[in-house]
Amino acid sequence: MTPDLRESISVLRKNNDLREIEEEFSVDLEISALANHYQRKEGPALLFNRVSGFTNPVITNVFGTMKRFESVMERRTEDFAGDFQGIFDSLLSKPGLLDGLKLFSKLKNFSVNQVGNGPVKDYKGDITLDDIPILKHWPEDGGRFITAPVVITRDPETGVYNAGMYRMQVFDGETTGMHWQTQKTGAMHLKKAKKLGKKLEVAVAIGVSPSILFSAVSPLPEGIDEMAFAGYLSNEKHNVVQGETVSLRYPATSEIILEGFVDPDETREEGPFGDHTGYYTPVDLYPVFHITKIFHRKDFIYHSILVGKIWSEDVPIGRAIERIFLPAIKFQVPEINDIFLPEEGLFNDVVFVSIKKRYPGQGRKVGMSILSSGQMMFTKYVVVVDEDINVQDRKEVLWAVATRTDPSRDIEIIRMAPSDSLDHSSIFPDVGGKMIIDATIKGRSEGIQKPWPEKIEIDEEVILKDKLKRYGIRP
Ligand SMILES: Cc1cc2nc3c(=O)[nH]c(=O)nc-3n(C[C@H](O)[C@H](O)[C@H](O)COP(=O)(O)O)c2cc1C
Repeated sequence: MTPDLRESISVLRKNNDLREIEEEFSVDLEISALANHYQRKEGPALLFNRVSGFTNPVITNVFGTMKRFESVMERRTEDFAGDFQGIFDSLLSKPGLLDGLKLFSKLKNFSVNQVGNGPVKDYKGDITLDDIPILKHWPEDGGRFITAPVVITRDPETGVYNAGMYRMQVFDGETTGMHWQTQKTGAMHLKKAKKLGKKLEVAVAIGVSPSILFSAVSPLPEGIDEMAFAGYLSNEKHNVVQGETVSLRYPATSEIILEGFVDPDETREEGPFGDHTGYYTPVDLYPVFHITKIFHRKDFIYHSILVGKIWSEDVPIGRAIERIFLPAIKFQVPEINDIFLPEEGLFNDVVFVSIKKRYPGQGRKVGMSILSSGQMMFTKYVVVVDEDINVQDRKEVLWAVATRTDPSRDIEIIRMAPSDSLDHSSIFPDVGGKMIIDATIKGRSEGIQKPWPEKIEIDEEVILKDKLKRYGIRP
């Protein structure tokens, strides 16, 4: 059996990091209100066993803290990052046979395991969306939203698979919205399908192994199959089964699968939805997903993620993405020392980056590289600092901005670039501005007339020697 959501629930139970709620709760705001409360307090995952009007339970807050994220992923984030660092290091130093073998062993599960049947096929065609305890999360939401769906499509031209997480508003028992934003791979596949005059087949997996879910939200380059990446993450290939009404394969141990299609010529109003920004994203036109068949496991568990302001499950997910993909960014832009995406900047909008600066203009160069790297294209503000500044410390970054920049020289504004569809402050929908703040130390060729002053520093250990111990400052 490949990893699945049930195995993660067992891990949470064993770690005493799951609160099972036997009191009856409603899908209409009650579950999300308690989840919101627990998320703010970094409380446990929540399993609602009795949901008014439904027979199946709801689990939420599975990724609520970094510790929990790592426990359900069964590995530390820094170890994943270490793998990538190792792979890039081997590539750079031209691996010998041994390094090559190590590299291969890390990627041996980067694939899927096609099987004839799986638990998700236990029941078919016996329920509609009205039987699934899908939540209304926030008071002004336009309805009930599926917020943790792994949306699987294939490139209509190349056949390459993609999985992304795009929320789905329930319109009726067989129809939902499909909120893939215009720059996302699902939306690209639909554009290609339109060109070929076809509808796009879609399979939606709900309630999957955390490795599959994390893979679907990760900013992988287009063309990488997220299900294969999930195999690497869980160090075990995931079993997949073939669809019945769609020619797509999907995780065999999903709690629920929705098979169906999106017609490129159909849109419908979607929203409002209480979003990652902390605001309601207003009503807008999005494609429509039509269900052809629903499959589910016996006693399926519905998995929901409460999307919302900065204390939400987005924080561990965003932080893990930042740490795991840092080696890949460093490989592309080797002068990068560290990166920090503050959660107050929604991970998308503000980036602090420290660099080993070697030549004039390099601060701006790195700023432009960040704005051109995959989903970092959504960044609005990039602050570039030297490597002596710890980007994880907001105070140090602000100190560098205060003491190492002249706004008339060190700010670059870029107009009319791609922006996040959720950004209600951008000049046009999906198009907006960017700002690079080059807070690196400048030299003469960058307009500094006087010598750059030295930083105040004092080495307590060297100066105070043995005295230090008596004051309990350091051993
Ligand atoms: C909980 C959660 C909900 C998300 N909802 C959406 C969404 O509704 N629409 C969207 O385009 N991206 C959404 N995302 C972000 C995408 O899943 C993410 O950008 C992913 O990398 C897209 O995959 P793709 O590059 O294969 O399209 C969400 C992420 C999370 C963590």
